Amino acid sequence: MDLNLTGKIVVVTGASKGIGLAITEAFVEAGAFVVAGARRSTPELQALEAAGSVAFVSADLSTPDGPAALVAAAAGRGGIDVLVNNAGAVKARFDGILSVTDEQWESALALNFLSAVRTTRAAIPHILARGGGSIVMTGSVNAVLPEWNIVDYSAGKAALASYALSLSKEFGPQGIRVNSIAPGPVSTSLWLGDDGIAAQVASANGISPDDAVASAASGASTGRFTTPQQVADLVVFLASDRSGNTTGSTVRIDGGYVPTI
Ligand SMILES: NC(=O)c1ccc[n+]([C@@H]2O[C@H](COP(=O)([O-])OP(=O)(O)OC[C@H]3O[C@@H](n4cnc5c(N)ncnc54)[C@H](OP(=O)(O)O)[C@@H]3O)[C@@H](O)[C@H]2O)c1
Repeated sequence: MDLNLTGKIVVVTGASKGIGLAITEAFVEAGAFVVAGARRSTPELQALEAAGSVAFVSADLSTPDGPAALVAAAAGRGGIDVLVNNAGAVKARFDGILSVTDEQWESALALNFLSAVRTTRAAIPHILARGGGSIVMTGSVNAVLPEWNIVDYSAGKAALASYALSLSKEFGPQGIRVNSIAPGPVSTSLWLGDDGIAAQVASANGISPDDAVASAASGASTGRFTTPQQVADLVVFLASDRSGNTTGSTVRIDGGYVPTI
């Protein structure tokens, strides 16, 4: 399928590893140029830069100024056609919801919600200047399946889904489509890294990280985690004009993890 993405300029946040790196690679494969934001680059991203398909911008997207710096770098390359708000992180908190401090709430919401608000606010004038385009948010099943031990992350992802739908209503008439994806567990360092969710759950419950992974996987009808590549394929499709009348949608990619309609 030709996705008509050749020559498009795409901004991807959280592009250095995991889902964001797979999204970056998928856009490059489709012929787009990616302006890739994260705090630190990686060998994989450096290889794409060396090939001329990617420009890495070092930015802390949880700060007020980080998103604007990333968008300015993309604008300097000619404009923006697609924005993927993907940066995010989760820290499990096992001392109960009442123990979550203001600082922890603010930190979680700054990265998982406000970074997308700020990046989108800076990017939309550039997308409009190109005659329209597409925005995709990396949400989570935790927007509709909130958990007590990731209360701040769950609330941030719910806010992100709401924000995306509001955006789709205002900017649909001007040619910008806005959609979200809602992954269940995905095989990245967020889950599987040394300090990932599996390790945190294992330590809190006196089980092994492998058992924590097996337990999460068993919650999916397919019995397995989603791969970053599978998420990336969905994002690229939603971003492309092959999904031309899809807007305001949240598409689950969770192996059947969410058990409701
Ligand atoms: N993995 C899952 O099971 C899963 C499920 C549902 C939703 N998601 C969502 O998918 C997205 C990507 O997650 P992932 O699993 O790919 O995680 P990951 O492997 O940990 O990658 C996270 C990316 O975000 C970047 N990032 C983190 N903090 C940042 C900051 N302050 N400023 C700029 N960039 C920052 C990281 O780069 P630096 O650290 O270098 O900044 C990295 O590129 C997140 O929004 C996450 O909530 C993941």
